[in-house]
Amino acid sequence: MKKILILNGSPRKKGTTASLIKAFTEGAESAGNEVKELYLPGMSIGGCLACEACSGNGGSCVQKDDMERVNEAVEWSDVIVFASPMYWGTVTGQLKIVVDRLYAMCNRLKWSGFKKETAFLMTARGNYYGQALNFYGIFTNALNWKDWGTVLGAGKEEEARQIGASIN
Ligand SMILES: Cc1cc2nc3c(=O)[nH]c(=O)nc-3n(C[C@H](O)[C@H](O)[C@H](O)COP(=O)(O)O)c2cc1C
Repeated sequence: MKKILILNGSPRKKGTTASLIKAFTEGAESAGNEVKELYLPGMSIGGCLACEACSGNGGSCVQKDDMERVNEAVEWSDVIVFASPMYWGTVTGQLKIVVDRLYAMCNRLKWSGFKKETAFLMTARGNYYGQALNFYGIFTNALNWKDWGTVLGAGKEEEARQIGASIN
């Protein structure tokens, strides 16, 4: 049983990304996992200021905003699922800002100590996912997080459900 955090970057609560998230969650819960979803567009989170304060003070961010809720959930989780529509080739700004702000946690945990498992859910109008997969590769390749799989495309609920159900 794993604790799974879904970072939902889609503003549309009933959109195609939401539908993949729903199927993934059903699969993951059916396998006994615990799932928490954060709807990032409803949160107030400022972009990283690159002040580097977090590099020198043990990983604390100078900005006190809803990222503190995200950090708590990240600490709670074993698995982080990045879920987003494709905007201009990659994830939405709302999700990218959260990823940028994880820099502070990386500093707190001295980078190699920031170890999670991960999965990626993305929908798009077209079918070119190269740039988005480069984004996801930062976690699976550079940070070496275990990859449970990617679902690329609207309407692939069964794939999402199966990946969720495979997590144990
Ligand atoms: C600002 C914006 C940028 C987008 N950029 C792309 C893109 O680069 N490539 C693409 O295939 N679709 C793009 N789309 C289409 C969305 O990715 C697609 O409609 C997606 O399925 C919407 O997900 P949702 O139903 O969760 O909102 C864009 C849509 C918006 C609103």
